[in-house]
Amino acid sequence: MRCGQFLSGLAAIANAFLPGVAAQSTPKGPCQLLAEYQSSVITQSQSPYPGDIEFIKLDAEMAYNCRTSVPFVPEDALGTIDYLKNYSNFDTTLSFLKKPPPSYQKPGVDIMGRLDRVADNIRNGKYSSHAEFEIDIMAITSGSSEGHFSINLQLLNLFSWFLNDTIVSLSRDGKELPQIYARSDIESLMSNPSPIIELGGEPVFEYLRSYIERHTKSSSIEPHADWNAMVYNGPYVRFANGSDVEWVYSAGSGVNLLANNYTSPEDIYTGMIANPGISSGINTRSDGLINRDRLESVALDERQQQNSPPVKPLPSVPLFNYPRNPDVLEVSFGVGGIVSGYILQDDSIGVLSLPSYESGKRTTALNYTNAVVEFITKAKESRVKKIVIDLSGNGGGKVYLGYTIFKLFFPSIEPSVLGRVRATPHINTIGSILTGVLQDGTLPNNDLQVIYKGYGGTIGLSTNDILDSNGVKFESWSAFFGPRENNDDSFTNGAKYNLSSPLIETKYLGFPIPGYGAETVWPQSELWAAEDIILLHDGICASTCAIFSELMKTDAGVKSVAVGGIPQYGPMQGVSGTRGSSIQQFEVYSGLITAIKNALNSLGNQASASLSRWGVSVDDVQALPLPISNSPLRIEGSGVNALDMIRVSSPDAPLQFTYQASDCRLFHTFDTAHDIRVLWRTAAKVAGGDMSACVPGSTNAPGSISNVTLLSDPGYSYNSTWERANSTDVPKNKGVNGSGSGAPQLSVGLAGLLAVALAFVAF
Ligand SMILES: *[C@@H]1O[C@H](CO)[C@@H](O)[C@H](O)[C@H]1NC(C)=O
Ligand SMILES: *[C@@H]1O[C@H](CO)[C@@H](O)[C@H](O)[C@H]1NC(C)=O
Ligand SMILES: *[C@@H]1O[C@H](CO)[C@@H](O)[C@H](O)[C@H]1NC(C)=O
Ligand SMILES: *[C@@H]1O[C@H](CO)[C@@H](O)[C@H](O)[C@H]1NC(C)=O
Ligand SMILES: *[C@@H]1O[C@H](CO)[C@@H](O)[C@H](O)[C@H]1NC(C)=O
Ligand SMILES: *[C@@H]1O[C@H](CO)[C@@H](O)[C@H](O)[C@H]1NC(C)=O
Ligand SMILES: *[C@@H]1O[C@H](CO)[C@@H](O)[C@H](O)[C@H]1NC(C)=O
Ligand SMILES: *[C@@H]1O[C@H](CO)[C@@H](O)[C@H](O)[C@H]1NC(C)=O
Ligand SMILES: *[C@@H]1O[C@H](CO)[C@@H](O)[C@H](O)[C@H]1NC(C)=O
Ligand SMILES: *[C@@H]1O[C@H](CO)[C@@H](O)[C@H](O)[C@H]1NC(C)=O
Repeated sequence: MRCGQFLSGLAAIANAFLPGVAAQSTPKGPCQLLAEYQSSVITQSQSPYPGDIEFIKLDAEMAYNCRTSVPFVPEDALGTIDYLKNYSNFDTTLSFLKKPPPSYQKPGVDIMGRLDRVADNIRNGKYSSHAEFEIDIMAITSGSSEGHFSINLQLLNLFSWFLNDTIVSLSRDGKELPQIYARSDIESLMSNPSPIIELGGEPVFEYLRSYIERHTKSSSIEPHADWNAMVYNGPYVRFANGSDVEWVYSAGSGVNLLANNYTSPEDIYTGMIANPGISSGINTRSDGLINRDRLESVALDERQQQNSPPVKPLPSVPLFNYPRNPDVLEVSFGVGGIVSGYILQDDSIGVLSLPSYESGKRTTALNYTNAVVEFITKAKESRVKKIVIDLSGNGGGKVYLGYTIFKLFFPSIEPSVLGRVRATPHINTIGSILTGVLQDGTLPNNDLQVIYKGYGGTIGLSTNDILDSNGVKFESWSAFFGPRENNDDSFTNGAKYNLSSPLIETKYLGFPIPGYGAETVWPQSELWAAEDIILLHDGICASTCAIFSELMKTDAGVKSVAVGGIPQYGPMQGVSGTRGSSIQQFEVYSGLITAIKNALNSLGNQASASLSRWGVSVDDVQALPLPISNSPLRIEGSGVNALDMIRVSSPDAPLQFTYQASDCRLFHTFDTAHDIRVLWRTAAKVAGGDMSACVPGSTNAPGSISNVTLLSDPGYSYNSTWERANSTDVPKNKGVNGSGSGAPQLSVGLAGLLAVALAFVAF
């Protein structure tokens, strides 16, 4: 965040609200002022969810001043870099991010090199506050565009920053290029809102590009998706009609500062950022009190959680423009349920809205699945002809829920998608041991149970409960491990889950995936053909959503529509969050390594015999990373992309880096912004083969054809995409063979432009 730049203009009015400021003889520090202010606002809060204090507004400048005053301890930061590097090494996309193929729409990033540079900065005394250090680390993770890769240091999590309005990007008729509006204008149904032309004194597109490049945390793999994900932050707004307004920043914090005694910058450092007992500490607090404070505040958090009132519901209906009267609702919808279904009877369309694959806090994977089955049943009874599966905002969730929903629509298709990991020495050590342990079960203690329950059936950690691309069990760990050379790196062979594994029922879902258990309540055959189903994406789709979309597209042949993107003509990739198929926290690897070491210890002098039977040495085990709880700074909640998604037909093409245009792209319009059903009807027409509503140049685009895996240049790069922003040019796509094939695209484009001209006259 670079909020500081904007904050100078804010009036320092906050002091007026602070109780007792004038009466103090010694001035209070910035964090104490903030903590007292927050406390006074919490007391007055009328929020229906008193446990949720994040969106209680704090003065942005006060929060910023507190944050920047948190001290920097170079030894702690430097020691932490070692942990960050050793655990980031489990990420499967490192070498492709460092040297991406021409199909990739983002600049590459050398994560290890960048971490080394931060270490150099620490040694050279670059950082004067802890926040500056965390911002440099955040620039690496958000710059990686890998939504599963994150390094979670604590200070930047303490505050969130928000404005009192945001932007939307709408086309007047679906063909004219979108313009940018204040969301409040659209939500209030203002009849003739004026577009925004200038932000912060800069032309709108230049400002937004620079904003996205520096700040977006959407982690998407193409700029159109960044655009859709952007929650715009900027102070001065100029509308086309000449009016100016200033949007005002607030800060929010989910941490009750006063209750946790976070009233000085040093308290914040020792209490929440540093690892107690490991940190070299801040001079003023090297008094042995650190551990106790920390333990007390953890205990308090736990007490608060036990007594905590209802949590704020997940945003089950993703946007304000969704109908309020769904025909199917998952139980506890709005409190934890996710699924909703809509039958547009007059158009014979059924719409299934799946904004997440999480099963929610108060509901189960079975509740989710039952709601989808109810939708399918109702849609069939209503003789619905076309099905729209609206995946807007779906950033993933439970992997096996993705497989489950696929099998409800296509019970007869065996999912083909594979996963692989980097074939590193650490993975080889861990996988050899786990596979050995799980196969011969010689360990006499609980660690075996822990390992089996925790890690059985995980691709990349053992060959237990996984299958090769032909659906056959691997003969040994090394048959899976390979390695296979690719992109100056080594990878394992591809593997898929054994979907009959009992762990899926006992550990992950609570029931077997439809078609892999004894139950008969699920649909037993396809109720709609692939041509009668369409997926609707807005670029956010990631992780489990990417797996589901891949199964629907590649195995079943279902088409997809993408909505939104930068105002320009041409295609968009609808699945633009990470296409990696699993996230894994640092804690998981750390805990696993500890469990392995404990298990070996309990084997005593038989350990080395067991190890050599499994093909591992004591040195290999000792080379594994140290537990993250030994890191001087707390890094819990950090994670990596733990699995590449690959196709059987292209084992060297991690789908994350391929170019996959949707079959058609649509712009949001005032009509769709007011009533999403307008968009659903258009998407259903595309399923029926009517492409007339598609944005010029967005059909038959590279990578849209089923089973084409494109690693070559689609004809436009990240830079050229941005350079065409606000341009009526239709990009000249390259064909699937990499050769130019602009002509057919162009004729589509011209037809589209004609439609624009006609529509403009009629407007
Ligand atoms: C595109 O840019 C031109 C010139 O900068 C501007 O006049 C026009 O309004 C922009 N169009 C859109 C759709 O923002
Ligand atoms: C200009 O447009 C903005 C945004 O739609 C609106 O709030 C404002 O009232 C308009 N000003 C005039 C003078 O029409
Ligand atoms: C945001 O704050 C500014 C300044 O107080 C105000 O003019 C504007 O109306 C506010 N916008 C919304 C949507 O509340
Ligand atoms: C905060 O400090 C007060 C006074 O020293 C103490 O009573 C209280 O237990 C502390 N709270 C926490 C969460 O450490
Ligand atoms: C979720 O499903 C379970 C198992 O079918 C059921 O017992 C429970 O009542 C459902 N949840 C709600 C909130 O209805
Ligand atoms: C998959 O798992 C099931 C249940 O454990 C097992 O019966 C089956 O043999 C496994 N499939 C293969 C191909 O090994
Ligand atoms: C794509 O390829 C897979 C594996 O070769 C095949 O099973 C599937 O039917 C193909 N999909 C389509 C839509 O042609
Ligand atoms: C990181 O890995 C290096 C090289 O294996 C090792 O020397 C170092 O001790 C490790 N550090 C941590 C914190 O795991
Ligand atoms: C893209 O543009 C940036 C500046 O905006 C430049 O630094 C970079 O080198 C360009 N990349 C390519 C591949 O041209
Ligand atoms: C790609 O190459 C194949 C074989 O050379 C050819 O038949 C096909 O027409 C080419 N496709 C395009 C879009 O250029």
